[in-house]
Amino acid sequence: MRSAINERISRRTFEKSPLSTNEQEKIIQMVEKSNARSGLSSEFLEDGSAAFDSIKKSYGMFKNARSLLLMKGEKNDVHLLEKVGYYGEELVLDLTDMKLGTCWVAGTFDKTQFTAPDSEEIVCVILVGKVSNVTPKEKLIRYAISKNRKPISKRLIATAEVPDWVVKGIESVRLAPSARNTQKTTFHYDGNTLTVNIPNDYPMDLVDLGISKKHFEIEANGKFELGNGATFQMSKI
Ligand SMILES: Cc1cc2nc3c(=O)[nH]c(=O)nc-3n(C[C@H](O)[C@H](O)[C@H](O)COP(=O)(O)O)c2cc1C
Repeated sequence: MRSAINERISRRTFEKSPLSTNEQEKIIQMVEKSNARSGLSSEFLEDGSAAFDSIKKSYGMFKNARSLLLMKGEKNDVHLLEKVGYYGEELVLDLTDMKLGTCWVAGTFDKTQFTAPDSEEIVCVILVGKVSNVTPKEKLIRYAISKNRKPISKRLIATAEVPDWVVKGIESVRLAPSARNTQKTTFHYDGNTLTVNIPNDYPMDLVDLGISKKHFEIEANGKFELGNGATFQMSKI
C-alpha cells in the first residue's frame, strides 16, 4: 500500500475493455470486507457509465468511465463522510496495487442515476478501470487542477521541534487526492500532541479529512481518533 501512495494519481481515461471477472470478484470481496469494518454500505457497480454519459454533468472529463464504487452509508452515522474518505482511500490504494486506475468523483457526474434506501446517503463515487499510459488530455486536466502541491509549511503548524514521523506522515498526506485539489487539512503539533483539522466549509471536506488520516496512518505508527480536530494516538509497542 505504501508504494501505491507514490504511484496513485487520478485517472480519467480508461481502457475500453471492462474489468475481468477475476478483478470484479476481488473488488467485490474487498468492498464487503471494508463495509464489515466501517459500517458503510458501499457497492461495486460493474456498469455505472450512465452517470457519465451526459457531457453537461460530466464536463467531458472522463473517457470510457464504466465500473465504480458507489460510496454510501447510513445518514444517521455522524462520521459518514469521514469514513467514506478513510475506507474509500484504503480501497483506492488497494486498487492501485492491482494496477487499476481510479478517480474519486463527487461533482462531475449525474448522481440521479443511482438510488439508495431512504435511510442511506450516496456521498460520491470512485471510478475504477483498466488504464494504460497517461494520455495528453489527462496530463492537461491534471496540470490544470493539480499543478500545485502545497508545501509542508502550509499543512503543519508546529510550536515545538517536529519529529521525523510527523514529517513522513504529512509527506504522505501531500500525495493524497483531495476534492478540487484544495488540500485543506492542516496538522498541529505542540511537542506532545498531534491533531488534524479541516475548515468543514465545503461538502467534501470531511471526506478529505478521512483520506488525510488514512495517508498519515500508513506512514506513522498509530491511529487518529474519529472526528475533526482529532488527536493521533501512538501505538503501544
Ligand atoms: C472527495 C473528492 C472528490 C473529487 N471529485 C472530483 C470530480 O468531481 N471530478 C474530477 O475530475 N476529479 C475529482 N476529484 C479528484 C481531484 O481533482 C484530485 O484528487 C486532485 O486534483 C489531486 O490530483 P491527484 O488525485 O491526481 O493527485 C475528487 C477528489 C476527491 C478526494
